[in-house]
Amino acid sequence: MSTDRIKRAIRLGWDEMSASYQATTRISLHDVHYAPLCPGERELNIIGEVRGKRTLELACGAAQNSIALAKCGARPTALDMSPRQLAHAKTLIARESAPVDLLQSDMERLTMFTDGCFDLVISCFGLEFLPNPDACLRECFRVLKDDGLLVISTVHPLTAFEWDADAKALWVTDYFNPPIEVWEEPTDSAEQKGLTFFRGFQEIFNLLVSAGFQVERIVEPAPYDAQSASETDGKKTPYGGAYWESDRERLSKVPFAIVYKARKPA
Ligand SMILES: C[S@@+](CC[C@H](N)C(=O)[O-])C[C@H]1O[C@@H](n2cnc3c(N)ncnc32)[C@H](O)[C@@H]1O
Repeated sequence: MSTDRIKRAIRLGWDEMSASYQATTRISLHDVHYAPLCPGERELNIIGEVRGKRTLELACGAAQNSIALAKCGARPTALDMSPRQLAHAKTLIARESAPVDLLQSDMERLTMFTDGCFDLVISCFGLEFLPNPDACLRECFRVLKDDGLLVISTVHPLTAFEWDADAKALWVTDYFNPPIEVWEEPTDSAEQKGLTFFRGFQEIFNLLVSAGFQVERIVEPAPYDAQSASETDGKKTPYGGAYWESDRERLSKVPFAIVYKARKPA
């Protein structure tokens, strides 16, 4: 299976889904988000101080995380491979007057950046679309300064499995061989559909270590308390909206995302 064909299908799929994703997901421009209905950076404190730092966001979508970082004094660059997602980013960046550099690129190939030019690389919900995450993580290591930080939020491995709404339980059919999700979204690429890859902790941890990183922290964010969610906490999360609220029961029992915080040794 050609990875370029898979990535092309994923790009076309995101072009297709971009308008509805941006309309049904409410994403903050003031706090970095990591997971649906969950607290963001302000509460989780994964990144820390960013003032004056050069940051790179991979799979930025509409670049809300980079805009939030810019509001905290960072100097962000954000990239994505979907032109439609980037069009949303361009609009938001102009509206917010945020100093974010945008570019269209594949996050597995960061050849436009010199070695050691970023203090922080961040990505939220991008890694799961990569046929070759190893290439991306090695590029992240290369473009980071010594002591630089990589923060990646990606789908939790349990997200691969079906939620039984009646039983209020997850059907974990085979943890060691999670299914690859084949997208239903139409693309003009008949020969190849978009794919989502679910990867276990062991695989991602070992890829990070073999790229040279030291893993400092793993976070499995939990949603704000569902009891009070609709009144107050629903407004506090930097990543929510109607689409995610309809899945709240599952999300409050099974983590949707896992965040890896890793450092390039000094
Ligand atoms: C779920 S969206 C996340 C967007 C944004 N990070 C957010 O949290 O809203 C996934 C994004 O990954 C992008 N993407 C997928 N594969 C990519 C690749 N190889 N290089 C760059 N971007 C990619 C898609 O175009 C899409 O915008």
